[in-house]
Amino acid sequence: MGDLTKEFHRIFGDSREEAVAFFVPGRINIIGEHIDYNGGYVLPCTIKMGTSALIRKRGDSTARFASTNMSNLVEIPLGHVAYEAGHGWANYPKGIVRHMQLDGHTIPGFDILFSGDIPNGSGLSSSASIEVVTAKALNTVFSLGYEMIDLVQLAQKSENVFCGVNCGIMDQFAVGMGREDAAIYLHCDTLDFKYIPLNLGEYTFVVMNTHKRRELADSKYNERRGDCERALALLSKATPIKQLTGLAPDAFEEIAHTLPEETLRRRARHVVYENHRVKQAVQALEAGDMHALGQLLTQSHISLRDDYEVTGFELDTLVDAALQNPACIGARMTGAGFGGCAIALVEKGKVDAFKQTVAEAYEKVIGYAPGMY
Ligand code: GLA
Repeated sequence: MGDLTKEFHRIFGDSREEAVAFFVPGRINIIGEHIDYNGGYVLPCTIKMGTSALIRKRGDSTARFASTNMSNLVEIPLGHVAYEAGHGWANYPKGIVRHMQLDGHTIPGFDILFSGDIPNGSGLSSSASIEVVTAKALNTVFSLGYEMIDLVQLAQKSENVFCGVNCGIMDQFAVGMGREDAAIYLHCDTLDFKYIPLNLGEYTFVVMNTHKRRELADSKYNERRGDCERALALLSKATPIKQLTGLAPDAFEEIAHTLPEETLRRRARHVVYENHRVKQAVQALEAGDMHALGQLLTQSHISLRDDYEVTGFELDTLVDAALQNPACIGARMTGAGFGGCAIALVEKGKVDAFKQTVAEAYEKVIGYAPGMY
């Protein structure tokens, strides 16, 4: 019996019904940041870290949620599933239950135990991972008949409506639809997508955690979304577009002057050029041109730092330290920003030395060590 099963029996007791196991990973985004809610292209891929869940039917109408990472056990009657601040993390799986009910499903009683190794608040989609693993578990155990793409959309809706976090579709899509050794080239408006094999040649991705919590991330995130909406409203007077990502860089430059505020011009510029960089990154990956890919990553970071302003001192320090190492050919923040993680494209044989020097340089400036995965 595995450790998680033992823990399950310790917390929930024994039963004749068997517990069933599920796993959903976390993600990094290779490029295409703050693009999903602007309807353009993103290029995420899954990581080894993720969330496991063990679920068992109860035969009544109570749901109990526990996690090896948290101390509280949450018990709710399935006839009344509502957001409660005191339930903390358990609101993510509760939201999934609620949205399945709103789809017309009756969800019978169950016990579920989660165990995850994605650091919380690190920008590696721990919330999307727990949402989608819950959705997958309930869908399978209660034969609800959803396809994975439906579960992905349900999970995003639940995070938006039940949890009140205004995220786009990228994270839930990446963790639900991801495959090993491939990135997902996703168009966030149409949801058309293609798997791009991750043949990185002599290179590999190192994930670096600033260990800075993403304070104010939600309010700043919503502010950026608002800036994009205002920029779109103004630019669409000059040219018929439905999204900022509907503009190619040349077309944008021609009408950028119609944006009265400098800030809005910079926000829109990031979106237009970042969307274009995603297409270039896919070409670079397909051509096996790692140096071109690395340069695009670094350009993305600079744009997120100077035009979109979502990096911050810790992320900039970490990315600069990575770029100063000769084994690194490109680096950028990944996820929402304001803290969390960055990725670096690093020569495979030199990863250990890279991690050590970058960690030392970061700690010297920031005062504490970064995480390296
Ligand atoms: C967070 C959100 C995503 C996406 C990224 C930024 O991870 O959950 O929907 O907007 O930020 O690219």
